[in-house]
Amino acid sequence: MNLSIKYRPSCLDEVIGHKNLKKNLRSYLKTRNVPHLMLIGPPGLGKNCIAYAFASEYFDRRISLDTEEGDVDYKEFNASMDRGIDVVRDSIEDFARMNPSESDKLIIFLDEADSMTYAAQLALKSVVEKRERNCIFIFSLNNEDGIKVPALKSRCDKYHLKPPTNTEMAIWFDDICTQEGVGFEKSVGNKLVFDIVEHYKGDMRAMLIDCLEALIGFPNKDCITEEDLFKIYQEDTKSFAQLVFESGDMKKRFIDLWRKENFSVRKFLENLQELRDWKNSRVAAVVDANLRAGGSERLQMCYYFDVIGE
Ligand SMILES: Nc1ncnc2c1ncn2[C@@H]1O[C@H](COP(=O)(O)OP(=O)(O)O)[C@@H](O)[C@H]1O
Ligand SMILES: [Mg+2]
Repeated sequence: MNLSIKYRPSCLDEVIGHKNLKKNLRSYLKTRNVPHLMLIGPPGLGKNCIAYAFASEYFDRRISLDTEEGDVDYKEFNASMDRGIDVVRDSIEDFARMNPSESDKLIIFLDEADSMTYAAQLALKSVVEKRERNCIFIFSLNNEDGIKVPALKSRCDKYHLKPPTNTEMAIWFDDICTQEGVGFEKSVGNKLVFDIVEHYKGDMRAMLIDCLEALIGFPNKDCITEEDLFKIYQEDTKSFAQLVFESGDMKKRFIDLWRKENFSVRKFLENLQELRDWKNSRVAAVVDANLRAGGSERLQMCYYFDVIGE
């Protein structure tokens, strides 16, 4: 089973962080007076799983998300796959029109609603207005500016989500590692867990899928070392190195990508050098040493691209 599903919280108590939101969700549960919600924040910090945990408590039963038929009263729609108006008319409205089976309301989760087209958002607004008495809508967005229909926003309670604290995430991750039989070399154990937390910058899905999944595959999974982690991080940046390598203007592509993805530059450089068959390895070695000594990543990488002149 996919680790992010295996460790999906089934109730609000199991959701790490998000104290204020959880407090308000609990008070909605008490009164059963639930506003539509907008959960705003970067990927992997729990928007889907908060909605799922909340709905499980609202319905007071297990929600079947992972079967083909899905659940009778809870449904997730993902707008990033189908951004246009048809998905609103054909799928979302069809579901919203049904009567709840085992509860007083349906809960509809709209993932990545900020990537929907303007026409789709307008259509959605009218579905929300029409079906308000029957449905609770929960929107998940990475960026609030992506909602182009103000009336859609004003109908919701908005929550800007922040990642849990590093300590909260470290305790959470360490506990899951123990359950999976993953342990860390004794002398550096705690430090490595915090290193992982910092590396993934609050993306808990990436910690499970990119990191833990790889750790489980290591033959020495009960005694993971710094070296092992390094290997995993290196895999992470391989795809970025490939994108830069294949672009016409490596320096520009690197700056754009790095600004957006905030990956580790030293590992990136090593991956890029490998793709370049270790050409100009002298300048790469100098830049690596400067980076290790704390030199500016941006300046060092600009210098590197200027020297290799590609
Ligand atoms: N706050 C959290 N508490 C506990 N687990 C979390 C949390 N955030 C994310 N996770 C884990 O990461 C997985 C992916 O999170 P998800 O809810 O899909 O993030 P998002 O929707 O913000 O991209 C979840 O299934 C869960 O296993
Ligand atoms: Mg999501």
